[in-house]
Amino acid sequence: MINDFIYNIPVKVYFGKGHLHHLGEELKKYGTRVLMTYGGGSIKRMGLYDKVVREIKAAGLELWELDGIEPNPRIGSVRKGAQMCKEHNIDVLLAVGGGSTIDATKWIAAGACVDFDPWDFLDLSKQAPVKKALPIVDILTLSATGSEMDTAAVISNPETRDKIGRLDPMILPKVSFLNPENTYTVSPYQTACGSSDIMSHILEVYFNTGDDLYMLDTFMEGMMKTVIKYAPVAMKEPDNYEARANLMWTSSWAINGFVTAGKKHAWSCHPMEHELSAYYDITHGHGLAILTPRWMKYCLDETNVYKYVQFGVNVFGIDPKLPPMEIADKAIDMLADFFFKTLGLKSTLPEVGIDETYFDIMAAKSVNYGTLPGFKPLRKEDVLEIYKMCLK
Ligand code: NZQ
Ligand code: ZN
Repeated sequence: MINDFIYNIPVKVYFGKGHLHHLGEELKKYGTRVLMTYGGGSIKRMGLYDKVVREIKAAGLELWELDGIEPNPRIGSVRKGAQMCKEHNIDVLLAVGGGSTIDATKWIAAGACVDFDPWDFLDLSKQAPVKKALPIVDILTLSATGSEMDTAAVISNPETRDKIGRLDPMILPKVSFLNPENTYTVSPYQTACGSSDIMSHILEVYFNTGDDLYMLDTFMEGMMKTVIKYAPVAMKEPDNYEARANLMWTSSWAINGFVTAGKKHAWSCHPMEHELSAYYDITHGHGLAILTPRWMKYCLDETNVYKYVQFGVNVFGIDPKLPPMEIADKAIDMLADFFFKTLGLKSTLPEVGIDETYFDIMAAKSVNYGTLPGFKPLRKEDVLEIYKMCLK
């Protein structure tokens, strides 16, 4: 039974190749002083930077820049950006990049409007209310996080070894430019990691029981089939428009609130993965690929096997006449094969440089020193077990 819900995702999306000339007019709606944020230089190498600057100049806007936003963005970049906004009286932020750039920009937007340290928005002991934020426009260059169309943003603090995500409608982008061509230069590895992230956003919602809606489950199965079909194509043929377009639009819809509306769902693999990224700075989607099949194996039991059967039959085409537990095992194996054989991601934690050293503290932090109320509620001991399953 689905619960009542309100559906409200007010992001204006320009999807496709021919929309960049609308950039100036969209920015102008919010003012004339623009801070453009970006990462380590990929937008310059791919020629996007020049095109964007041209549009901004042609629109007669004033431009400031913050570059060097890290993958797994740090609070230091957020502090710097918020400070620049205050110093230069910025009206609107323009994020050009992947999820890391957009996430950092979201907290810059909120940080620009307060006198306190922006980490106070994320610090679990404070979680300062977000009363105001500068408007954000973004140009997405990597299909993965869905940050272009959601209210979430995740920031790392290397001093405290925390990586914390928070949702707030105030930091939702006003406008997102989604041109699949802007993802042609994404490496096969980042394409694989991004695709794994999209899969996980869907699986975290799909694997919940009690408030299923056939229409939403079918939609999620379609999105998962889309990723399974097009991720390997995009890796082999980086400039395949159809593949890049399918991945891009799926990344947004996997997490924009549509499939979660009406569900009392809670996520499991993301809190476990954020600790891996916090302690070892690994790529988010890679950590999720390693964790997800183990988590599914760990949670499987007679009461929830029907969900695995539904997944195995509808997504991977497994014979529905097989015994349910056999279908479930097969489905988990097929998902693991997709991550590790088709996408070529390393399958264990040691292969990405992670051993047991911090398992205890990471497990405790992932459940926030209590219980994660997900598909199967997880305590610290459960997470420890799942981490250990990832060692080989
Ligand atoms: O820094 P640059 O030079 O731009 O290079 C980036 C970076 O090295 C590169 N890249 C991006 N677009 C490219 C490109 N390289 C060539 N061509 C392009 N077109 O790819 C690398 C990774 O970029 P990043 O932005 O870090 O990747 P992603 O989009 O996967 O973002 C990951 C971050 O988002 C968080 C993750 O935890 C992680 O910190 N998440 C955000 C979420 C949200 N806002 O809702 C949800 C997710 O679950 C996730 O937690
Ligand atoms: Zn994710």
